[in-house]
This record gives sequence, C-alpha cells and structure tokens, in this order.
Amino acid sequence: SLPKIVILGSCCVDFATYAPRLPKPGETLIGNKFTTSFGGKGANQCVAASRLGGNTFMICRIGDDESGIKYKDHLRDEGVDVTHVWITPGISTGVALIAVADNGENQIVIVQGANNHLSVADVENSADLIKSADILIGQLETPYETTLAAFKLNNGIKLFNAAPAKTGIEEILPFCTILCVNESEASLLTNLDVNISNAAIALKKLLDTGCETVIITLGANGAVYATKNNLQCIHVLCENVLPVDTTGAGDAFVGALATFLVTHKIQPLHQIIGAACHIATISVTVEGTQNSYPTKNDVFTKEYKYLML
Ligand code: RIB
Ligand code: NA
Repeated sequence: SLPKIVILGSCCVDFATYAPRLPKPGETLIGNKFTTSFGGKGANQCVAASRLGGNTFMICRIGDDESGIKYKDHLRDEGVDVTHVWITPGISTGVALIAVADNGENQIVIVQGANNHLSVADVENSADLIKSADILIGQLETPYETTLAAFKLNNGIKLFNAAPAKTGIEEILPFCTILCVNESEASLLTNLDVNISNAAIALKKLLDTGCETVIITLGANGAVYATKNNLQCIHVLCENVLPVDTTGAGDAFVGALATFLVTHKIQPLHQIIGAACHIATISVTVEGTQNSYPTKNDVFTKEYKYLML
C-alpha cells in the first residue's frame, strides 16, 4: 500500500485582502480584492501533499460552525482521509486575516479557535494512525504539547515545521527527523539574524539541538540544509519568478517535501529539496494558497542546481 502521510495540525479559514502594499500601523489602505478560502498551515501542507499523489491523513479540530463542516468536506474532496477530523462544540473554526501586497509579500494574524483544542487525548485516540505513519508532520498553529506527544509515538520520519515562530520548543527537537524553518523562525531559534550569509552557522546551531536534518527555506533563494551525519551545508537554488502571492509557499514546500520523501526515496536529498522548492515556486506565481498548489507533476525529470556552502 502507499506510504502514509499523517498531518497533525491546523485548519483555518483564510480571509485575504489584496492591496498595492502592506498597511503601516494605524493606517487604512484601499484594497482591490477580497477572498475567503481554506488555509491553516497543517491543512495547507496536507492538501499540497495530497495533490502530488500523497496518501494523506489529517488529524485536526474544527469548530461546530458552517466553515468547519465545509472544511471537512473540502479535505475529503482533496482526497484526504478525514477519519480524525474532529468537531469541538461551541468553538469557532480557526481564522486567518491575511493582507497581500502587489509584490507578493503578506502579513497574517491568526485566531486559533478550535485548533487550540487539539489535545494530547486526541493524540491518544489517534495512536494507531500516528504509529503507522511513514511520515508524520507537525507545525505550531496547534498546541505544542500535542505535537510533542505525537512525535514521541512515531518511529517513522518526523517532519517538524516550527511555524509560526515560537520559543520554548527545545524538547521536541531531538525527536525530529527533519526540522524545517524559514529565516525568521531560524532567527528566533538561534538568536542570529539568519540569511544566506550566515545560514551555515545557523544550520550547525540547529543541528546541535538534536534533530537529524535541518532545512532553512530562504524564499526566492531556495533552501539550505545539513544533516547530523554529513555536516556539509548545501544550498539548493530555485528558479527566479515574479511573485504574485507568497502566502502558503512554505506549506507547499513542506507538503511536497513529505510526499517526495516517501514516494521518491531513492532520490538524493538535494533533488528532493529542489523538487519541493520547485512546487513552492509554482505556488507563488498564482494568487491564493491551496488553490495555487500544483497537482501530480514530473518534477524529477529535472536536475536541481545546488552549491556546497
Ligand atoms: O502558511 C500560510 C497559512 O498561515 C495561511 O493559510 C493562514 O491560514 C496561516 O495559518
Ligand atoms: Na500562491
């Protein structure tokens, strides 16, 4: 049977406004478009993985409101197993208020709602699924303790996307097969101002926390990574495109990475990361989050460029 990709994480309804630029504090801007769509880092990663042919299972909590019910139907329509999508009575589904600028940059505020009710008891009730996962993915839009409990149960690949940035997450890091962070998340965890010039130092610092492999995504500059067994830092480049909307590009990367890790096991890691960067790059050229994620794709016919750092 197909390898199981299990995502423990968030579902949010995304309310996105599009404007020429991002507003300054206290400023009111006139925008030119508004959309309501399915988001949340966990579900975004799940949908990205599913569209690329991954056999996905979502463990999450939604509210007992209309958007929660719609969200579950949406996940099912995307080919996701929704057996472990639970409803929390009397609580709203998570929401995200997003502003997107013409240059593709964004700003996001989320209110977790039902996502905050995903509990250690839920992990215990999903123990069979979590133990049987070939790859388990977690993020930080649901309670950290819940993700930690799940990571302790699984013996497969554990992919932790420490987003949004949060301190006090040291305990989970030794359980992570792969820690994946962007520059600002890496900065918070290392006390450095992380960018390509000091990425090798940041990778080493993060490997010292106990995870096996660390990936730092660098937006248009691709990604850098290093592993415990091979301290050589590698910079995987990605194509240059004109960004339209970068919302959820990191999630496209994580979901694609998860799928390719289990469906293209024989590929070297730089190729798998290159392919995941390629999927994220496609996503930034199209407006929206999940609706910009591509479907099954011949990404391994290419050879991705990489440099030793
Ligand atoms: O990573 C992008 C996501 O972050 C959005 O879909 C929004 O829901 C926020 O959670
Ligand atoms: Na997009």
